[in-house]
Amino acid sequence: MTLTRTGISKAVIPAAGLGTRFLPATKATPKEMLPVVDKPAIQYVVEEAVAAGLSDVLMITGRNKRPLEDHFDRNYELEEALTRKGDASRLARVRESSDLATMHYVRQGAPQGLGHAVLCAEPHVGDQPFAVLLGDDLIDPRDPLLARMITVQQQHGGSVIALMEVDPEQIHLYGSAAILPTPDPDVVRVTGLIEKPEPAQAPSHYAVIGRYVLDPAVFDVLRKTQPGCGDEIQLTDALRELAERDDTGGPVHGVVFTGRRYDTGDRGDYLRAIVRLACEREDLGPDFRTWLHTYVTQEMQA
Ligand code: G1P
Repeated sequence: MTLTRTGISKAVIPAAGLGTRFLPATKATPKEMLPVVDKPAIQYVVEEAVAAGLSDVLMITGRNKRPLEDHFDRNYELEEALTRKGDASRLARVRESSDLATMHYVRQGAPQGLGHAVLCAEPHVGDQPFAVLLGDDLIDPRDPLLARMITVQQQHGGSVIALMEVDPEQIHLYGSAAILPTPDPDVVRVTGLIEKPEPAQAPSHYAVIGRYVLDPAVFDVLRKTQPGCGDEIQLTDALRELAERDDTGGPVHGVVFTGRRYDTGDRGDYLRAIVRLACEREDLGPDFRTWLHTYVTQEMQA
C-alpha cells in the first residue's frame, strides 16, 4: 500500500443515490455518469482525489451502478478499434479513466443515508484517517481544497470538514456548522452541526460542502447514530458527536472554502458548470464563447 506523506491514502466516494432530480436521464444511467462537457461528473471527483495524493478510491455503489465500474476499467474492444484507426488522442482519452486510480467498489444494499454509506467503507478503510468526496460537488481543480484539508488534519488531528458561506435562505439545503475562529483565517473550530436546519435554527450561514477528512472513530459513532433528518443515518449527526469530543475522533475543524464549486446535483447549477467549464476549455472555449456571446446578446434584445 502506498501511503501519502500524510499517512492518508484512501478516498471514499458515496455513489449509491438514485438521482431522482435528473429523471428521466437517470432512469437507466447513474447520475454520476452524466457528462460535464465531455467527461462524466464522477471522473472529475476521482481526479480531485488523485490530485490530493489519494489514489486508492472506494466507491459505495448500489443497484444500476455497473456503468461506474465499466468507466474506470479498461475497454479493450474500443482501445483496439482506436489503435487500428491510429487515433492516438482518443485512445489516450479512453485510457485516462482506467489509469487514474486503484478502484474498489462496495454495495450499500439499502439506501439508509450518507452516514450508512460511509459506514460501508469501514472494512476497506481500517483505522487510518480517510477522505470522503461527495459526487454532487465539483471543486475546481485550480482551488485545491482537499489538499488543504489534509494539511489541517495533520496539524490538528481529529476530523476536518469543508465549509462554505451561503445565503441564509439556502442553509436548509445543507448541514450547518456552529464555529469558532482559529488563528488561521481559513480554519475554524466546529462546535456543533445541524443537518438541513430551518433558517431560524441554523447555527450559522456556514454550510457543509461535500469534502471530509475523517478520523476512523467516526465508524463507532455511526454504528450508534439513529436515523435523523429524512429518516436517514446522517454523517452530520455523527460529526456533531465528534465535534463535542477532544479525545478519540475529535476535535472537528472546518476549512472555509472561497473557491469555485459547482453543485452538479442541481439542474440549474449543472448547466452553469457545463457552460463555465466549456468556456474555459482551450479546445472548445474560443468557438463556444463566441457563440454564447451572440446567443445571449440576441436573447437580451428579444
Ligand atoms: C449532504 C450532507 C449535507 C451537506 C451536503 C453537501 O446532503 O448530508 O450535510 O451539506 O451533502 O452537498 P445531500 O445534498 O446529499 O442531501
